[in-house]
Amino acid sequence: MYSCKDMANNSDSYSLNNSINSSIKNNFLALQTSAFTIVDMLARSKLISQAVCTVAKLKIADYLKDGPKSVDELAEESKTHPDSLYRLLRMLSSVGIFAETKQEEGRRESGDNNKRKFELTPMASLLQSEAKSSIRNFALLFGLESFNRAIDDLSYSIETGENSFKHANGLDIFEYFQQNQKEAQIFNSAMTSLTSLHVSSITSMYNFSQFNAVIDIGGGQGILLSTILKNYPNLHGILFDLPHAIESAKKLYVSNATTNSQDHNNNDDVLSRCKLIEGDFFKSIPAAPDADCCYIIKNVILNWDDESAAVILKNCLQAMKKTMTMNANQDNNKQKIHPKLLIIDTIMPEGNEPFVGKFTDILMLALTHKGRIRTEKEFHKLLNSSGFDIANIIRSPYSANFLSIIEATPSS
Ligand SMILES: C[S@@+](CC[C@H](N)C(=O)[O-])C[C@H]1O[C@@H](n2cnc3c(N)ncnc32)[C@H](O)[C@@H]1O
Repeated sequence: MYSCKDMANNSDSYSLNNSINSSIKNNFLALQTSAFTIVDMLARSKLISQAVCTVAKLKIADYLKDGPKSVDELAEESKTHPDSLYRLLRMLSSVGIFAETKQEEGRRESGDNNKRKFELTPMASLLQSEAKSSIRNFALLFGLESFNRAIDDLSYSIETGENSFKHANGLDIFEYFQQNQKEAQIFNSAMTSLTSLHVSSITSMYNFSQFNAVIDIGGGQGILLSTILKNYPNLHGILFDLPHAIESAKKLYVSNATTNSQDHNNNDDVLSRCKLIEGDFFKSIPAAPDADCCYIIKNVILNWDDESAAVILKNCLQAMKKTMTMNANQDNNKQKIHPKLLIIDTIMPEGNEPFVGKFTDILMLALTHKGRIRTEKEFHKLLNSSGFDIANIIRSPYSANFLSIIEATPSS
């Protein structure tokens, strides 16, 4: 027999057991959720990345530009296996890239790829080759074998601090591109796609009308420079990059000039105001045609360690000094003007908050010569040691644009 006291004790221990049980259950559920999150990160992220590269390569979004198509039609156009293509599109549709169109009840039978149709979604539209803000080229970059070999070899970078791109492919990334023109073309086009997404916010963040000339160092195919020149008809420009990049910039500038010749601020005019110069920024950087100028270095400093970045910056300083000397010789009455340097780059915030630059930073570790995303403090140190003072940092008011403009002038 239980006494009342025993019963009270029993009920206490029952509720204690209950609360222990529910706490164990909650801990287990939390563990389970965390484990699933990691499984999700491991399986999903890599598969989504590969799936997007695959549909970009196959031009599936291009085939859908005029409306929905059946899996069989898409498979025929892309020369793929219908059921496998269906499964790939089903997976991508689950994350908002493509959508299977609604069909009448009972018509969607298993394996009936003639009836299953897919259409573009806003995200899938951006994978079309000719879409405004197309990111197809960027997807193709992530599909390059050389790129993936380096990312798969990330543990080498973590163990040694050296770049896994060179370890996996035998050459530093920009040497590799100089010898592999096809991949270089994909890289340059990917950079152009990415920069196209930023140009309008960059031109609205900064007033370029104070200058007579803009020199874009490592400017790739010149999309930023040509946009600035279009917006400011009095400006002259120099695009400076490695020979293969200048070659592909020339093709792009000329083809834009011929296709858009009826444009008011037409591209012919941009071409006539812009010099395309090939060279190596570790050797020398060209002087500007006018001392009222700015040197832009966008998305370049992040590719290099401090020592190499300092060489680029010091060569830039030399070019600025040469520009000022030439300008002083030309016009003694002209007020002495210091050219400005604009570094357009991602600045790493302190702390643990989510930030896209933390992923770019690891890409830089794997792909480049000890490149990194720098904090504001690190930029101050790098620029000061290279003969510059930071005058101003302009951060983007648009959350999707994570680039800042660091305005620097030669130290006095
Ligand atoms: C990450 S891309 C940035 C391109 C462009 N500024 C943009 O933001 O789209 C780096 C650029 O630096 C150029 N580059 C690399 N090494 C160079 C060198 N030694 N001399 C001149 N340019 C170089 C590459 O060809 C490439 O165009």
